[in-house]
Amino acid sequence: MKNIPVIMIIFGGSGDLAHRKLYPSLFNLYEQGLIHDNFAVIGTARRPWSHEYLREQVSDAIHETHDQVDENEVKAFASHFYYQSHDVTNVEHYVTLKKLAQELDDRYSAQGNRLFYMAMAPRFFGTIATHINDQHLTGSGFNRIVVEKPFGHDLASAEQLNKEITASFDENDIFRIDHYLGKEMIQNIMPMRFTNPLIKNIWSGEYIKNIQITLAERLGVEARGGYYDTSGALRDMVQNHIFQIITLLAMPEPKDLSSDSVHQAKQELLKSLIIPTPEEVKKNFVRGQYLGSDTTFAYKKEPNVDPDSTTETYVAGKTKFTSGPIAGVPIYFRTGKEFKEKKTRIDIVLKHINNPYGQAHSNNITIEVDPESKIYITINGKKIDEPGIRREDLTYVFSKEEMTKVPDGYERLLHDVFVNDSTNFTHWSELKRYWEFIDAVEDAWQKENEAGNPEIAQYLPYRMGPKEADNIFESPTEHWIYE
Ligand code: BG6
Repeated sequence: MKNIPVIMIIFGGSGDLAHRKLYPSLFNLYEQGLIHDNFAVIGTARRPWSHEYLREQVSDAIHETHDQVDENEVKAFASHFYYQSHDVTNVEHYVTLKKLAQELDDRYSAQGNRLFYMAMAPRFFGTIATHINDQHLTGSGFNRIVVEKPFGHDLASAEQLNKEITASFDENDIFRIDHYLGKEMIQNIMPMRFTNPLIKNIWSGEYIKNIQITLAERLGVEARGGYYDTSGALRDMVQNHIFQIITLLAMPEPKDLSSDSVHQAKQELLKSLIIPTPEEVKKNFVRGQYLGSDTTFAYKKEPNVDPDSTTETYVAGKTKFTSGPIAGVPIYFRTGKEFKEKKTRIDIVLKHINNPYGQAHSNNITIEVDPESKIYITINGKKIDEPGIRREDLTYVFSKEEMTKVPDGYERLLHDVFVNDSTNFTHWSELKRYWEFIDAVEDAWQKENEAGNPEIAQYLPYRMGPKEADNIFESPTEHWIYE
């Protein structure tokens, strides 16, 4: 399907996300012809920009992300952009926006198709959705909306936001974006699990001892202290990215690859997600905050962070399912700011088997997502000139040339929105279940805070997070594989 007719309205058109991700991705899709002659983009934000100024910004964004570009193409692409200064709380502005969208629809023959993109501060999502509805901004063709994270702050606010959005959009037209689902190696989990007999047949509690997910970041909260202090690692990374990874690892095989079948498999699994009790939260979760160093601030001293903050910059935890292929297998996860390095990886730890050689090295499957993209299986073999077992890795890796062809997650996901494929987006029923889990943990922590004895581990920056996280394992034979 090429040259999709559409008028796209980006709320937050002067923002960082639009500049760094959306404009360059849209340009690539334009180059591929997916959107071409019959599209226009309206960027809206408070600033009083002109169409011309937005076009310059779009052109800058492309030059910043592309080594070589055809200037005529950039110019032609940028000419499809229009700017509308907009205060999201002012109803009249939606009337103007609607008029502009209609004019552009006629000019570009966009067939009444509308794509709304919420790329601004999440506190405005509900207001925008409400006014899209009461000012009838939707068109006579398809109407889709892309919503950035966070989708709510807890289950109650997520339900409210969902209600506001579903007043104008069907569930099938709501694309809740999670950029992890656009990552190459995350998209490799399903083919790896379902096409290799070697892997598919051991995907059970009989062979898998545990699964470990690490989303480690080198950076601190940087300039985002204000947002982060109201969120914390659990909401910022576990509620969305980590839970989507867990779901892909634990779900049953979908009957085919259609979006409906994939979401059905996910939903079937999530019914059996065990929601932790306060006692289990205490036992199975560790929260932490980074300390300062000679050159960096402690979290509590970061700009816009409450000096008495109890917000976690690190969390480790455990979860399990009561059904699905890996029912009962512990899934450990951790994420934090100011780790020793950026590293996103998944370790599938296999059980030891009795063998006539006695001890063998553990036989694990590791998926590295970032910064490298590879899968490796640790294999036992014999040592060459002495008795004993040696360990080697079998590695599935991309060449440098292949890596340059991997599209950015945003480009891939935007492409999917245009072609109406919601496989790699979060369905409401999944999101709801994730919030139920997160709320249980947050409530338990909140009670500890109110009782005046929160256990918040302090950890040194640029290491591996708090040592307390070494104690969340069920048995003494388990430990973090990546350390
Ligand atoms: C975002 C979080 O969703 O993901 C950030 O809000 C985090 O705090 C980022 O830094 C990490 O994404 P990536 O792709 O760099 O691992």
